[in-house]
Amino acid sequence: MEKFNSSITYDRHLWEADVQGSKAYSRGLEKAGLLTKAEMDQILHGLDKVAEEWAQGTFKLNPNDEDIHTANERRLKELIGETAGKLHTGRSRNDQVVTDLRLWMRQNCSMLSALLCELIRTMVDRAEMERDVLFPGYTHLQRAQPIRWSHWILSHAVALTRDSERLLEVRKRINVLPLGSGAIAGNPLGVDRELLRAELDFGAITLNSMDATSERDFVAEFLFWASLCMTHLSRMAEDLILYGTKEFSFVQLSDAYSTGSSLMPQKKNPDSLELIRSKAGRVFGRCAGLLMTLKGLPSTYNKDLQEDKEAVFEVSDTMSAVLQVATGVISTLQIHRENMGRALSPDMLATDLAYYLVRKGMPFRQAHEASGKAVFMAETKGVALNQLSLQELQTISPLFSGDVSHVWDYGHSVEQYEALGGTARSSVDWQIGQLRALLRAQQTESPPHASPK
Ligand code: ARG
Repeated sequence: MEKFNSSITYDRHLWEADVQGSKAYSRGLEKAGLLTKAEMDQILHGLDKVAEEWAQGTFKLNPNDEDIHTANERRLKELIGETAGKLHTGRSRNDQVVTDLRLWMRQNCSMLSALLCELIRTMVDRAEMERDVLFPGYTHLQRAQPIRWSHWILSHAVALTRDSERLLEVRKRINVLPLGSGAIAGNPLGVDRELLRAELDFGAITLNSMDATSERDFVAEFLFWASLCMTHLSRMAEDLILYGTKEFSFVQLSDAYSTGSSLMPQKKNPDSLELIRSKAGRVFGRCAGLLMTLKGLPSTYNKDLQEDKEAVFEVSDTMSAVLQVATGVISTLQIHRENMGRALSPDMLATDLAYYLVRKGMPFRQAHEASGKAVFMAETKGVALNQLSLQELQTISPLFSGDVSHVWDYGHSVEQYEALGGTARSSVDWQIGQLRALLRAQQTESPPHASPK
C-alpha cells in the first residue's frame, strides 16, 4: 500500500516549485505573526539548503517519503529542527500540491512556447527561401491545383500559430495562485494571499478554496492544447512521409532524421516523422485519461487527483522532444524541385480553363461544364488537356481564342490567386509578414518567466 500510495518517484520533479512555494508561505506566516523573523530566516535558509541538495543531486530520499512535500519538510526538520514544524501551519498538501504544479507548468509552458515559436520560425524562413517552387496541391489525395511549396509549408505553420496562441491562453489560466486555500475551507490564521501572489509572481488568486484545491481544468486544457498541436504535427508528418516516398520523390529527409533497415540495405525510413505521428496517440490518451479521472469526483480533493502529474510530465517531455525533432526535420529537409515541377500536369489547369471562359463573360456553371467537356475530349483523344487545338476547343465554346495558350503556364496559374490567403507570390509574402509579426508579438507577450524569489 505504501508503494501504491506514494508519488515521490515522479513528483520529485516538483522539488524546486515546492521549495519556492514554501519560502513564499513562510513569508506569509511571518507577516501574519505566526513566525518570528528569526524563525522565518531559519526556515528560508533551511529551504535553500534543501534546494541546493536537490540541485546537486545529493538529496537522499527516505523509504517513507511519500511525496515531494513530505520529503522536503522531513529534510528541513533534519536541517533546522523543530521550527520546521511551523511551516505547514494552516497549509494543506491539497493547496500545496496544486500550487507546485501550477508553478512547474507555468515555467514549462514558457519553455514549450519558445520551442513552438522556433519551429514556426524555421518553417517561415524556409517558406521565404523557397517561395518560387511550385508543386501539386492535393484534395482527397488527388492532384487538385498547382500551388507554391511555400503555401503548403505556411498552411501547417498557420495551424501551429493557433497552438502557440492557445498555449499562451492556457498559461494565463495556469498562472493563478491557489495557496492559502488550505485543505478545503481556506486559511483561518490571517495569511495574506495577496502577499503570496506577489511573492510567487502569479497573475491572480483563486476565488474559492474548495474549487482551488480540486479543479484541474488547467491540466485538462494543457493536455488538450498538446493533443491539438500533435494533431497538426502528425498531419504535417504524414504529408512529408508521403512526399518522401519514391512514388512522390518531392522531399528527402536528411540522414540525421532517418534510419536504415536492419534487413533491406536500400531502405531509408522516415522514423522521425513516424514517431511524431505516433506520439499523438499517447498524448490523446493522457488527455482522455485525465478527463475520465476528473469526471464524477465528489467535491473536493480526492487522491484520484494525484494522477494528474504523470500525465503532465509525460506530455511535457513528449512535446518538448517532438517540437525539437520537427524543427530539425524541417530545417534539414531537402526538396527536389524538378520532381515537384514534373508532377504538375495540364489536367490540374482545368479549373483555370473554366476561369478563362468566366473572364470572357460565361457564367461559372457553364464554364465548368465547358472545361469538363475539354477534359473529356482530351481523354478520349488520348492527349493532354493543353494539346487540344484551338479549333477543337472552339467546338466546345466560341469564346476560346488564341490567348488560351496563357492558361497552360503553371506560374501564370498560381499568380491568379492574389486574394489574401491565396497561393500567389504577393499573398505568400503577405502570409510570411503576418506570421513574423505574430511571432514578434508573442515573444513580447511571453518573456521567459523570471524565477520567483
Ligand atoms: N501527493 C499528493 C498529490 O499528488 C499530494 C496531496 C495529498 N493530499 C492528501 N489529502 N492526501 O495529490
